Amino acid sequence: MLSFTRRDFIKLLGISTLAPSVLTSCAGTSYSSSQLTPLSPSDSDELLTAKGLHWRRLISEQEAIGENLLFGTNNDYLQLFPLSDSRAILWVNHEYIYPLLSSKPERTKANVLFEMSMVGGSLIEISKESGDWEIVKNSTYNRRITAQTKIPFAGGKVVKGSKSAIGTLANCAGGKTPWGTVLTCEENYDGFFGETDFKTQKHIPSEWLQWDKFFSYPPEHYGWVVEVNPLTGAAIKHTSMGRFAHECATVRLSANNIPVVYSGDDTDNEHLYKFISHQSGSLTAGTLYVAQLETGKWIPLTLADARLKKVFKDELDLLINARQAAKLVGATPLDRPEDIEVDPFTGAVLVALTNNKTEGRPFGKILKLKETNNDPLSQSFEHEVFLSGGSEAGLACPDNLAFDRAGNLWITTDISGSVMNQGAFKGFKNNGLFVVPRSGPQAGLAIQVASAPRDAEFTGPLFSPDFKTLFISVQHPGELTRDIANPTSHWPFGSGLPKSSVITIQGPLLEQLMSLK
Ligand code: FEO
Ligand code: CA
Ligand code: CA
Repeated sequence: MLSFTRRDFIKLLGISTLAPSVLTSCAGTSYSSSQLTPLSPSDSDELLTAKGLHWRRLISEQEAIGENLLFGTNNDYLQLFPLSDSRAILWVNHEYIYPLLSSKPERTKANVLFEMSMVGGSLIEISKESGDWEIVKNSTYNRRITAQTKIPFAGGKVVKGSKSAIGTLANCAGGKTPWGTVLTCEENYDGFFGETDFKTQKHIPSEWLQWDKFFSYPPEHYGWVVEVNPLTGAAIKHTSMGRFAHECATVRLSANNIPVVYSGDDTDNEHLYKFISHQSGSLTAGTLYVAQLETGKWIPLTLADARLKKVFKDELDLLINARQAAKLVGATPLDRPEDIEVDPFTGAVLVALTNNKTEGRPFGKILKLKETNNDPLSQSFEHEVFLSGGSEAGLACPDNLAFDRAGNLWITTDISGSVMNQGAFKGFKNNGLFVVPRSGPQAGLAIQVASAPRDAEFTGPLFSPDFKTLFISVQHPGELTRDIANPTSHWPFGSGLPKSSVITIQGPLLEQLMSLK
């Protein structure tokens, strides 16, 4: 794509039915010159919003969405598939479970089976009543995809002797395809069924949830990008985009409609990848590249490279071990690449780098990549730092990103519970939601607009098609709880155990920032 036009932006956002008079307010230049008043950081167990915004709980973990159908735990990525102006299907990732709060800490088969039913994703119909969104309980669209759902590998691939995997898990962030499916990414999969040691090929047991004590599912069946049809729930696992701790899968189209997917491996010193499909309308086959920032090159991970041919027995072996392949070709180690968004006005690719404990870089930054000729198919790029986390920015550990209709950038932070409100992180207090205005007197500054309850992070920010609602996940409130009788958070109900929940944020500040009518 040589230049990113307004038409492309509208296409990307799926709002092509808007009247021309509405489109004229999309240029991002009409933002009011009045200053936004930032929300002060807070360490309280409340969800706070800046003046001009208010929030409402949509759904919390383990609520019924249908008969024998429970909303899962630790909601993360959100995506919407409109059915009409007032009805939509909401996709929600359920990344993991904290047994002490949401199951039982004892590792028994019964507890693990329950936990398997709580992760994966939810599809829920929502409807807009009097301006705000509600869950439609018992809708025929309501479904769960869990760690027990049988999911075939795309293209008939056979992974560790099987054409299908049991379940999806560690579903962190994701993406949306132009053909109306959701991509859900399997991130920290090794915490569920362990990992296979690359050199010895021996099983490394899971130290976290330890599901591998009861089920011997191959670790190679996880760490992929899973594509789900929101209308039918049909799911497929793609091996084409490689296997690693996939944070997200951000899709854009080339000028000739070839899908390109950016994905980060959220681990200290891991890498940034780009997948270029071999055909439009499909992600089943293509070429996976990894970024080398020093040279500004996307390096293909294929057996045409002699360095890879002598290590991997075939293409699938290479994709299963994408991390090792990336290192063999000299990919740049990065500071935990998390969410990725494409600037709707310039086509620049923004990559949130949360931090790097190993290298002593605690506050993270946002990297900006510019593809040569602004062409997603390009083999080269330039890069610069868009925003550095730290006390000057007033923000630490950027994680999820979203652009609004005016091109303002919304950022959620992920300061780990183990350091939150302590030492160098004390001043940032709880995790927050920030907006970086694109224009006006505060252009380029990160302004805090919401504060998460204790121990929580905001994840999965998503605007409704009319941009009047920001859907957002509140994940892991009270995650530092070690005594069930004394939880560190009582959010959202003010008493009892904390519950991860999806909320909606609305208010005149959204309208001011985007000049919405
Ligand atoms: Fe699940 Fe990298 O956050
Ligand atoms: Ca994340
Ligand atoms: Ca995170």
